[in-house]
Amino acid sequence: MKNILITGGAGFIGSHVVRLFVNKYPNYKIVNLDALTYAGNLENLKDIDQSPNYKFEKVNLLDADALKTVFTTHNITDVIHLAAESHVDRSILSPLDFVYTNIVGTVNLLNTAKEFWKADLTKHLFYHVSTDEVYGALGETGLFTETTPYSPNSPYSASKASSDHFVRAYAETYHMNTVISNCSNNYGPNHFPEKLIPLFINNIINKKPLPVYGDGLYTRDWLFVIDHAVAIDTIFHNGKINETYNIGGFNEWKNIDLIKVMCKQMDAKLGRSIGESEQLITYIKDRPGHDRRYAIDATKINKELGWKPSVTFEEGLAITIDWYLQNTEWLNNVTSGNYANYYENMYAGR
Ligand code: NAD
Ligand code: TYD
Repeated sequence: MKNILITGGAGFIGSHVVRLFVNKYPNYKIVNLDALTYAGNLENLKDIDQSPNYKFEKVNLLDADALKTVFTTHNITDVIHLAAESHVDRSILSPLDFVYTNIVGTVNLLNTAKEFWKADLTKHLFYHVSTDEVYGALGETGLFTETTPYSPNSPYSASKASSDHFVRAYAETYHMNTVISNCSNNYGPNHFPEKLIPLFINNIINKKPLPVYGDGLYTRDWLFVIDHAVAIDTIFHNGKINETYNIGGFNEWKNIDLIKVMCKQMDAKLGRSIGESEQLITYIKDRPGHDRRYAIDATKINKELGWKPSVTFEEGLAITIDWYLQNTEWLNNVTSGNYANYYENMYAGR
């Protein structure tokens, strides 16, 4: 019997992890802890929120007393920590939010777990979900492995790198059982439309400009979000204690090539003439500190734990686009209100 605290479960990746665990493990209690920031949306979980093994706690990671209450109330045995400020562009606008949630929040959570589990730390696992962005940028060749030195370039990746170091330090110093995974760019249903793929799907639907940063030749390694959730499940149950696992899609795309595939698929699905959406492409001023290329070597998780992505990029993208076309109410709800102001500020004058 496990009582697992999943943080950030109302967000994009967290909601897929919560759904997977709630449905696959009826004997576990899954407690979703989330502050419901602009990125958190309980609508993401409405299909499972009545399940008997699911509980939601609206708590901020910065509130140490509330964290302690959650651990006590639910007798938490393990943690899967996803809650974070997660968007590079926002981190450029307000880095301190990232320091508070990603660094201070993670240390608060580590302290709470360490104290609550102190009778026998070896019986519990603290799983920290991180990003490949901690490794910095690659040139035209090479891949990030688990031993690539950290070299973060944005306030977001610097805050995630710091949180990874704290998790590592708690394993060394206090002998907590931890595991860290560093994953490449995710895409899929429920993705907040400020990141490339959902933003462009939304803009194509609404015939708005597609703002391509710089020369559009930046490269990312894309992974379907449900494959990430399955990787987290695999590592949680079978990963070696105090190890790091890189998770990636073996799926590199230059932004402009990926955007053209999206435009083609969407023209076909929307009954528009082929080439219509490509005309919305607008090159704008580059992001400061823009990392040229990310690419993951996922050999370790593949060889040691047998995990690999289950869908091709074209399949995953088609599922994703269909989901957004069928969930216009979700999209309208998240793009109204504060997000409209953010969008104006971010792209005005570029
Ligand atoms: P997200 O922004 O969609 O979700 C983050 C969630 O955390 C939201 O529900 C939000 O309400 C919650 N949250 C934020 N601050 C909080 C606080 N102070 N206290 C409690 N809850 C808080 O992010 P995501 O894309 O789902 O990413 C989840 C995790 O995976 C993050 O740690 C991120 O660094 C990591 N990651 C993301 C990607 C990606 O492509 N999105 C890739 C690799 C790793
Ligand atoms: P993003 O989805 O923000 O993820 P990350 O920065 O974490 O990789 O961006 C993916 C790529 O797309 C990145 O190279 C920046 C680029 N991009 C644009 O060209 N235009 C946009 O409007 C956005 C949001 C991103």
